[in-house]
Amino acid sequence: MTTAPTPCPDGWFAVAFSSDLRPGQVRRSRIAGDEVVVYRTRSGLVRVTAPHCPHLGAHLGRGGRVVGEQLVCPFHGFSFDTDGTCVATGYGTRPPKASLRLRHSHEANGFVFVWQHHAGLPPQWDLPRLPHDYPHTAQTTHCFRGHPDDPGENSVDIGHFAHIHRITDARPLHTFTTDRHRAQLAVTGRKILGPYGHGIDAVIRYEYWGLGFTVIDTHIPRLRIRGRVLNAVTVPIPGQLQMRTRISSALTTGSTPAKGPLWLDRLLATALTHAVRPQYVRDIRQDIGIWHHKTYVERPRLAEGDGPITAWRRWTRQFHPVHPTDPVHPTDPAHPTDPINPVHPGARP
Ligand code: FES
Ligand SMILES: [Fe+2]
Repeated sequence: MTTAPTPCPDGWFAVAFSSDLRPGQVRRSRIAGDEVVVYRTRSGLVRVTAPHCPHLGAHLGRGGRVVGEQLVCPFHGFSFDTDGTCVATGYGTRPPKASLRLRHSHEANGFVFVWQHHAGLPPQWDLPRLPHDYPHTAQTTHCFRGHPDDPGENSVDIGHFAHIHRITDARPLHTFTTDRHRAQLAVTGRKILGPYGHGIDAVIRYEYWGLGFTVIDTHIPRLRIRGRVLNAVTVPIPGQLQMRTRISSALTTGSTPAKGPLWLDRLLATALTHAVRPQYVRDIRQDIGIWHHKTYVERPRLAEGDGPITAWRRWTRQFHPVHPTDPVHPTDPAHPTDPINPVHPGARP
């Protein structure tokens, strides 16, 4: 029996940045080979729907528009409410019993996520809402050939830190810990900067929420810098990966970003984030260069110095439930039924 991961795992995956969608905007995106239409109503609600109108099949992402809280089809002007119901025709006649095929969506932390499940089960767990304690955030997107397991496995693959990223003396601060769809790892190491090999000690904490969302917190005590990278990966089509990233950093006092005068915090945080972003992009492009050409080795020949790759793979198998012995991910009692999209009025990045 193969244990190779499936192309489109289960979980929450981002289809847009929140900032991609101003009120009234309609966009197209892709997940697991399916096109979806993502839109924001005038009051700020986000909805994600299958792209074709149930009337006569027009594409809602090609000319569809938001009027108030409704999405209006470009073909005959039928309107759809936020629960997907058709509430008006373009002729002023009684609307048919019809509905959009809404996807479960959730806007959090500057992303719009969609729930993806191979058997069509409703969301089995929630994503966190992180506090907004960074005054400035930069965003990047990378699209490449890869698999959604690659970025996460890369982060526990401590052996490559020195070879690819010039992080020496990397070692885990604790074992790779898991709790259902969540996992955590903390690593300490010395980042070598500049041509003269100056090193700076850092602690990096990874928190994984399925395969689609990772929070990476970095602390550099000597420079009193704290940084946060939010990575949201999606499989637009099998074999391709889209990685949306939000990068923040700030000076810190202890465990939280410093709270000085607002304008000064903003200025420093913006300057820091602009300085950190190119370094992050350099690092991620080095990884992508490897992922693009690598293959999946089912039985890797691991050695001392590798990170907790076996534990990582054991944890990720729950998101690839096609193997005969795998249970379908158990239903969370907090989600006994199929909630309409969690609604977060006016949620903004
Ligand atoms: S196809 Fe959408 S209103 Fe007719
Ligand atoms: Fe890497």
